[in-house]
Amino acid sequence: MDFELNEDLRLIRDMAREFAEKELMPRATGHDRNGTIDPEVFEKIGELGFWGLTTPEEYGGAGMGSVALSVVLEELNRACASTGVTVSVHNSLLGTPLGKFGTDAQKERYFPKLATGETIGAYCLTEANAGSDAASLRCRAEDKGDSFLVNGEKVWVTNAAWAGLFLVYVRTDENASRAKGISALLVPSDTPGLTVEKAEKKCGIRGSATNVVQFSDVLVPKDALLGELNGGFQVAMDTLDGGRIGIASQAVGIGRACLEASIKYSKEREQFNQPIGNFQAIQWKLADMSTRLEASRMLVRQAAWTRDRGAPCTQESAQAKLFASRTANFCADECLQIHGGAGYTDDFHVERLFRDARITEIYEGATDIQRLIIARKLLA
Ligand code: CAA
Repeated sequence: MDFELNEDLRLIRDMAREFAEKELMPRATGHDRNGTIDPEVFEKIGELGFWGLTTPEEYGGAGMGSVALSVVLEELNRACASTGVTVSVHNSLLGTPLGKFGTDAQKERYFPKLATGETIGAYCLTEANAGSDAASLRCRAEDKGDSFLVNGEKVWVTNAAWAGLFLVYVRTDENASRAKGISALLVPSDTPGLTVEKAEKKCGIRGSATNVVQFSDVLVPKDALLGELNGGFQVAMDTLDGGRIGIASQAVGIGRACLEASIKYSKEREQFNQPIGNFQAIQWKLADMSTRLEASRMLVRQAAWTRDRGAPCTQESAQAKLFASRTANFCADECLQIHGGAGYTDDFHVERLFRDARITEIYEGATDIQRLIIARKLLA
């Protein structure tokens, strides 16, 4: 057993770390305050090849897997969680299912531009009344011979504002029960009738784009079907097995930023004539943060490694997300407490970390959904 990253992974981690420290850390507060990500960041991510990290090499990508993505995402999210989730969704919620379920024609059409970031990907599953209960979705695709006619509304669509390609889950069989009547469609953003609507004003990850997406009489050719007709729910769930590893990696990155800020402040801040790091109350917080982060990273690596082997990883990815997202929030809370009043102001980036951490327990399956998934596996 080897816990070391191999040379390729170390190289890519160092590239991601350098980029994150030089380009993302100085911009993260601006991304948060301006509610967007600087366009140069998109370009630089393209130059580094991170948009195409998991795109197969024959289509211009790096052809790497979940472990590589998780290593990169930890570094990006340590600096800027808004950028981190954007890269995560693009790779894990669009690129990965395209590679796994797409036809050659679909891959040839979309992968080259996804690999460079010329096209950004988004994933449309959730609806106003279908959140945790994804199988109850109502967005409808009527069979019109060569095409589907899509009508409905999707919410909480990460990347919608800058996406060129949407993976949309629709109901193709009204008579089939729940998950059995759902299909996945690849829909380019310029398809008539598709409109990106209301941008959500969020507590955290404010630089990332989260919108409502409307489908009004959108004609989608049948060759846009990803995977089997009425097999879309399996595509959605398999994709989320990978996506959750991305969010768990985000949580580790945010938690690590909290630990690093806490260590720095504990050495600088003096009270009772000494650095607060001399006090056991602070030392125990640092020790617990570090230990839980190490355990989170191990769960993330194990889940990613399992996925890269092509083995089922539903339980592993749910456990990684459950534990890492709880840990990110624990670390953010302790970090803010260590910073006291200063941490509660925007003089420090700690309050942003506190807000950014919160979403990791909500999106791509809330904490209680991860527990449900794990428990179902244990009891099966
Ligand atoms: N891989 C492949 N297939 C799977 C699967 C998986 N991991 N999990 C379930 N399935 C299959 C089942 O085998 C079953 O197929 P059969 O009918 O052929 O047996 C089918 O899917 C239905 O499965 P369930 O009976 O388990 O379905 P359920 O309705 O009980 O729901 C759930 C399961 C786990 C609660 C699911 O609805 C879920 O994950 N909910 C959370 C939704 C979620 O994570 N949303 C996040 C949206 S994306 C997001 O946040 C976006 C972002 O932009 C960041």
